Amino acid sequence: MQRSLILLKPDCVQRRLIGEVLSRFEAKGLQIIGLKMLQVTPELSRKHYAEHVEKPFYQSLEDFITSAPVVAVALEGLEAIGVVREMLGATNGLKAAPGTLRGDFSSSRQMNLVHASDSEASAERELDLYFRSEELCDYSLCLTGFMR
Ligand code: TYD
Ligand code: MG
Repeated sequence: MQRSLILLKPDCVQRRLIGEVLSRFEAKGLQIIGLKMLQVTPELSRKHYAEHVEKPFYQSLEDFITSAPVVAVALEGLEAIGVVREMLGATNGLKAAPGTLRGDFSSSRQMNLVHASDSEASAERELDLYFRSEELCDYSLCLTGFMR
């Protein structure tokens, strides 16, 4: 089992695509174990995008990610990190394949709807940025109990 940190970015919230994106993860069989809406501050942005702070596009990226609330999601599942990255598609929405979230909903390199951790190390680091350990729920799916 792996855990991954997903962010539904400001464009996703503004375009009212939260439900659409969450339903794809649920349909795939990934389990939501943490969920919250929050406003990213410049300080959190610099931590989240630590690998990019020196890059020319960083200030614009910070302006975007702090422009409206985001939804942070902790997902758990078999090979969740790679599976979610595949579901997102390429970084640039114009290049992302149809059928992926970015391919279906984004035509932008910056406003690409969703962030997802890209390795086990970044997942651990990013989950820590958005969730305290007691905010992550450890539960097993027990669907039959809800069929009555
Ligand atoms: P990156 O980590 O390379 O992509 P990904 O989100 O697929 O892991 O970049 C982080 C974000 O920075 C990316 O989602 C969109 C933004 N970005 C730009 O605005 N311009 C760029 O040239 C790049 C490479 C990324
Ligand atoms: Mg990245």
